[in-house]
Amino acid sequence: MARGCHPCTSCVCTLYGAMVIFALSFLIFWLIFLPQELKFTVTDASLTRFDYNSTGNNTLFYNMSLNITIRNPNKKVGVYFNRIQTLSHFAKKRFSMVTLTSPPFYQGHKNTTVVGAAIEGQQLLLFKKKDVDKYDRETSAGIYSIEIKLALRVKARYGKFKTRYYKPAEKISCKLKLPLLHKSINGTASSAAQFHPTRCGNVYVIIAKYDGA
Ligand SMILES: *[C@@H]1O[C@H](CO)[C@@H](O)[C@H](O)[C@H]1NC(C)=O
Ligand SMILES: *[C@@H]1O[C@H](CO)[C@@H](O)[C@H](O)[C@H]1NC(C)=O
Ligand SMILES: *[C@@H]1O[C@H](CO)[C@@H](O)[C@H](O)[C@H]1NC(C)=O
Ligand SMILES: *[C@@H]1O[C@H](CO)[C@@H](O)[C@H](O)[C@H]1NC(C)=O
Ligand SMILES: *[C@@H]1O[C@H](CO)[C@@H](O)[C@H](O)[C@H]1NC(C)=O
Ligand SMILES: *[C@@H]1O[C@H](CO)[C@@H](O)[C@H](O)[C@H]1NC(C)=O
Repeated sequence: MARGCHPCTSCVCTLYGAMVIFALSFLIFWLIFLPQELKFTVTDASLTRFDYNSTGNNTLFYNMSLNITIRNPNKKVGVYFNRIQTLSHFAKKRFSMVTLTSPPFYQGHKNTTVVGAAIEGQQLLLFKKKDVDKYDRETSAGIYSIEIKLALRVKARYGKFKTRYYKPAEKISCKLKLPLLHKSINGTASSAAQFHPTRCGNVYVIIAKYDGA
């Protein structure tokens, strides 16, 4: 069998060589840039309204504001944020989508940026019995479990090279425990508990699938 040059040996070699070169260049690229994922944290939040009347017209009235802190821990990778959207959910049901209006910005190396989000309005929501129970339970505790998902449109800069804008396939999930603030007559706000800064889940934002060119 091993009788020297089978007609296809050379093409197998070429293919194999190409794969090795590709893997090596990927490894070198990785070693040069050492890309690390961005870190998203909800550093401050205030919830002033979260009303749902299951015997009324099934409308959720909500009003909250968030400070979302984005940290780029990279030494050699920068990120352009073209769009950040917040998708808010209670009991896995989405009640709001807000596109943050801050203009597109560039986040350089080792930098931290705070983005504010005002999420307010009303939404018709058909809660099941168990969702209403959850709402009632959390209402009496004064703290609501609200999940904010962040959808991004970003591009990365590796040295002089920029990728295209892309939307990371996965959304970043921030699972918040938001205490409802009550305004007293004299104007001071109080709540049953304090909001604790919450790290959002990690997803691949800057090493996302790259569709060529
Ligand atoms: C967010 O940050 C701003 C200042 O940048 C501050 O005025 C505000 O109180 C913070 N908190 C919330 C919940 O928006
Ligand atoms: C809910 O809506 C119903 C019908 O509109 C009303 O009778 C009831 O008082 C409302 N409950 C609350 C807590 O607002
Ligand atoms: C639902 O009811 C509230 C009062 O309970 C009212 O303010 C609101 O406009 C109603 N929404 C709709 C969509 O009918
Ligand atoms: C939401 O809350 C903010 C700050 O407390 C307030 O300025 C705004 O008027 C509220 N919006 C609604 C629709 O109640
Ligand atoms: C880092 O962020 C600060 C404020 O957040 C900004 O003033 C500065 O220009 C940024 N630096 C780079 C290199 O982007
Ligand atoms: C406002 O009222 C609350 C009780 O409702 C009280 O604890 C607080 O000290 C008051 N604040 C001021 C500035 O009077």
